[in-house]
Amino acid sequence: MCGIVAYIGSKQCQQLLLEGLKRLEYRGYDSAGMAILDAGRLDLAKAVGKVANLEDKLETIGGLRGTLGLAHTRWATHGGVTEPNAHPHTDDKVGIALVHNGIIENYAALKTYLEEKGHVFKSQTDTEVLAMLIGELYEGDLEKAVQAALREVTGAYAIAVICEKEPDTLVVARKGSPLMLGIGNGEFIVGSDPAAIIAHTAQAVPLDDYNVAKVTRSGFRTTDIHDVPVTPKVMQLELDLEQIELGSFAHFMQKEIFEQPKALRNTLRGRLETREGRVVLGGVARLDKELTKARRVILTGQGTALHAAMIGEYLMEDLAKIPAVAEYASEFRYRNPIVEENTVVVAVSQSGETADTLAALREARERGALSLGVVNVVGSSISRETDAGVYLRVGPEIGVASTKAFAGQLTVLAMLTIYLGRKRFMSADQCADLMRELERVPDKVDRILESDQRIRKVTEGLVDRENWLFLGRGYNYPTALEGALKLKEISYIHAEGMPAAEMKHGPIALINDGMPAVFIANKGRQYDKVMSNIQEVKARGGRIIAVATEGDDQITRLADDVLFIPEITEPLSPMLAVVPLQLMAYHAAVLRGHDVDKPRNLAKSVTVE
Ligand code: G6P
Repeated sequence: MCGIVAYIGSKQCQQLLLEGLKRLEYRGYDSAGMAILDAGRLDLAKAVGKVANLEDKLETIGGLRGTLGLAHTRWATHGGVTEPNAHPHTDDKVGIALVHNGIIENYAALKTYLEEKGHVFKSQTDTEVLAMLIGELYEGDLEKAVQAALREVTGAYAIAVICEKEPDTLVVARKGSPLMLGIGNGEFIVGSDPAAIIAHTAQAVPLDDYNVAKVTRSGFRTTDIHDVPVTPKVMQLELDLEQIELGSFAHFMQKEIFEQPKALRNTLRGRLETREGRVVLGGVARLDKELTKARRVILTGQGTALHAAMIGEYLMEDLAKIPAVAEYASEFRYRNPIVEENTVVVAVSQSGETADTLAALREARERGALSLGVVNVVGSSISRETDAGVYLRVGPEIGVASTKAFAGQLTVLAMLTIYLGRKRFMSADQCADLMRELERVPDKVDRILESDQRIRKVTEGLVDRENWLFLGRGYNYPTALEGALKLKEISYIHAEGMPAAEMKHGPIALINDGMPAVFIANKGRQYDKVMSNIQEVKARGGRIIAVATEGDDQITRLADDVLFIPEITEPLSPMLAVVPLQLMAYHAAVLRGHDVDKPRNLAKSVTVE
């Protein structure tokens, strides 16, 4: 989704802003722009497409000079992908430049008001309206004008604003869309993501909703939109530059798939007291009493996080024996849900910023639910707004297609299941058995990764087909959904995931000669039933690709291609079964020549509803 980077200090900032934008590219965008203030004059450059196009543009115009500036990558919401719609946007009165993430919901009414006052708009964006409004309200103090304008708007924003009349001021603000102020040595770097800041400083102030920060070269102050001072909370960013660089890998997605064993060891570290059958989750311990009373769990998220939540639903009901339901956050939020007493809502999210998930979380809390976060990004909105939570600790995920975060989410949900289950129906031995299995997962993932080249070979034989099915049952029905999502989001192949049994209720009509049908057919309670479903597809000419348990000879005779995973207890099998599917999707995208880390139209973190 859109990205912001801004700078105030003593350095020439064009290069720094460009580098910041490049570190934000992974979030997804379709145009980019920059404004720098020098000697009381604003200079702008914008380009459609990649940041490299903006770089070329800057070179053509001889570059922008100055030590105060802001830059943006835009992911279109209001208005097409054009240069006039790219940020920064300016006003037509006092020389304001503004970049914005989010959506100004009442922009139409504000635009009419401003047009009546004689302002002329150059773009179709909601953002330009905010730039004009700040200009309209400007009376010699940028901070005050921003506060006043923000009192008039509804919607979500993270903004950075500069003004020709104030060469020593950068004003930033947030509501509903992340923004942090990095504190450097005699300089400040603002970013919508720690990745834009970390090369310069690890000290940062994450802004809270309705916070406004006025930043000058000598310091900063934070207030709310009514100018009431707010005490800033400085935090240490837990991010290494190395973690957000490619190293020897061709793509971030590939790096992150291969990082999974290490990431999972991190997720588990210090949290399993296997001999006692006890899980130690520091983040939720203080809610012990409330969690013992939990009568129902609602797991919610979007995209890959929802698939993890669905597996969480199976885990909690099957093992901890707590009624559980997984639901799209976007649907939960708007269907007037019933939240009974002692309900726990679990918000699952890599970024911790997904607007739909955040909105569902707020709705559930409003209705009295206790809330837990299963989140990767430390200090993110969801992590701050939940009563307690468990971090994934898988390190920054840059690839748009989520992989290692999914593995981390499943691991945390399994630990939460043991934690809750131990309080009710799970014996210490049963917990200990599951924990021993969990501890072995990272090594088993390592083993699957060794078959990468074979998976590539299998994918080569399928990559020309435009329609695929992914089928699984029980715990691996959500895995099938995840396999299909991975394939479609980066290779642009149409893929559908569904419960294997559902296939015969309609989708079977699609099966024609050679159509790839990927079955998750590992050993488990429904193995025989999955075998029958395979027969049904095979009988109609479909090409069977099976993810199966090592040593299974029966499947070798039935399927056209078999991708083996090590033996594992069924409830944890999605953690292994998903890995060959991730690799297949990766290879399919590379073989089809797509930009794996920057798939078209997608954003890493979707901060609009
Ligand atoms: C976007 C991404 C998906 C991701 C989903 C939820 O749509 O493209 O890969 O699964 O958001 O993101 P979250 O950060 O909440 O896990």
